[in-house]
This record gives sequence, structure tokens and C-alpha cells, in this order.
Amino acid sequence: MHNIVLAHRILVSLFLLQYVIKLVLLLTNKKEQLANYTKITKIPEMLVSVGFLVTGGWLLMQMPDVGKFMIIKLVCVFAAIPLAIVGFKKGNKGLAVLPVALILGAYGLAEMNTKAMSGGKVDTSSTKDPLEVGKIVYQNKNCLMCHGADGKSGVNGAKDLSITTLSLDQQKAIIKNGKTPMPGYNDLTDEQMNDLLQYIGSLRK
Ligand code: HEC
Repeated sequence: MHNIVLAHRILVSLFLLQYVIKLVLLLTNKKEQLANYTKITKIPEMLVSVGFLVTGGWLLMQMPDVGKFMIIKLVCVFAAIPLAIVGFKKGNKGLAVLPVALILGAYGLAEMNTKAMSGGKVDTSSTKDPLEVGKIVYQNKNCLMCHGADGKSGVNGAKDLSITTLSLDQQKAIIKNGKTPMPGYNDLTDEQMNDLLQYIGSLRK
């Protein structure tokens, strides 16, 4: 799972790199070099594009629910493709620049979303039941998005919480500090942290 995330990132970077090279040639009016470069890199470019879309699609299918950031990201990526094709075909510099902005924006936004996932205090004053408090934290802090409601879904390379072999202290350290791509959660109260650990324990079958 983790490897697919890594492969996807590498493919997106390669895609952007070759795109920027072509863009620079277009912007500096090097028409001949652009034509040559496009010809030589045709096959690798196709492989990278397909790989980028396939790994992205595969990761998407692993998600228990597609959040609004993911939808924005998808719209940006799919809007970028026709713009890129038309931009280069017509030699329109403005259109050709737009896809880079869209893709960087889309991935930047997703990165910010990961950061945002850890933010915000959770209000658990509605209950004193440790498992209820734990569940509220688990849901509100988006643990669900990667680990799933049962702790088993390995989205973004997330470990299966129902079979974790880590001690409570080790789990606590990971939750506090995070472990890429999992964000760190250091704004939980001691009570919320302990109830969260108890809730994770209850996912064990
Ligand atoms: C962005 C996805 C993501 C979110 C959100 C997330 N996690 Fe994780 N979590 C992971 C990944 C990935 C790992 C594995 C990290 C590694 O070992 O490389 C992990 C590992 C863990 C582990 C260690 C399990 C083990 O056996 O190694 C615990 C415990 C854990 N997460 C709890 C939580 C809790 C509680 C929350 C919410 C407060 C949460 N996670 C939110 C992705 C996420």
C-alpha cells in the first residue's frame, strides 16, 4: 500500500517534470526542439501518464469515502488533461501553463488537507463514557479516513489497528507525533487520548 503511494508520487513528479520541460520549450518558442522532444518522449510519457492515472485510481478505490478535497483534486487533474493537449496542439502558452497550476494546486491542497486533518479541538463534553469519547475523537480526527470504522482499512498505507502489536505507550507516541503520511495529533486532552486508546483496543476482535 505504502509502495503504491510512493509510486504515485514519483509518477506525478515525473509527469510534471517532463511537462515543465515541454512548457519551457513552448514558452521560449523553441518549436523544433519541442517537436523533437515530444517525439522522443512519446512512449515514456504515455507510460508515465497511464501509471499516474492507474495508481491514482487504485488509491481512490481504497478510500472508504471520497471527501470534498479529493473531488476538487480529481476535477483539477481531469481538467488539466484536455487543457494540456489543446494548449500544446494550438501552441497556446496560456492554456499550456494552466495544467501545471492546476496539478500543483490539486496536490498542494491535498497536502494541506492532511495537515488540516489533525487540527481543531474536539468537543467530547456530551458524554463521560470512555468508549463514546474515544469514538467521537476517532471520527472527528479523521482516523476513520485512513484506518476505517473497524480499524482495518489500510488507506494511505495505514496499519490495521485491530491487530496492532504496539503497546499503549507506543500507540500514544505515534498518535501524538504522527508517522508519514499520518498526521500528528498533539491537541488531544489526556482524557481524550486515553479514551481513544481504549476505543482502538475495542476494535480488536
Ligand atoms: C492520513 C492517513 C491516516 C490518518 C488520518 C490516521 N492514520 Fe494512523 N496510521 C496511518 C499510517 C500510514 C500508519 C502506519 C505508519 C507506519 O508505520 O509507517 C498509521 C499507524 C497508526 C498506528 C500504529 C499502528 C501499528 O500497529 O503500527 C496507530 C495506533 C494509529 N495509526 C492510530 C491512528 C489514530 C488514533 C488516528 C486518528 C487520531 C489516526 N491513526 C489517523 C495513517 C493514518
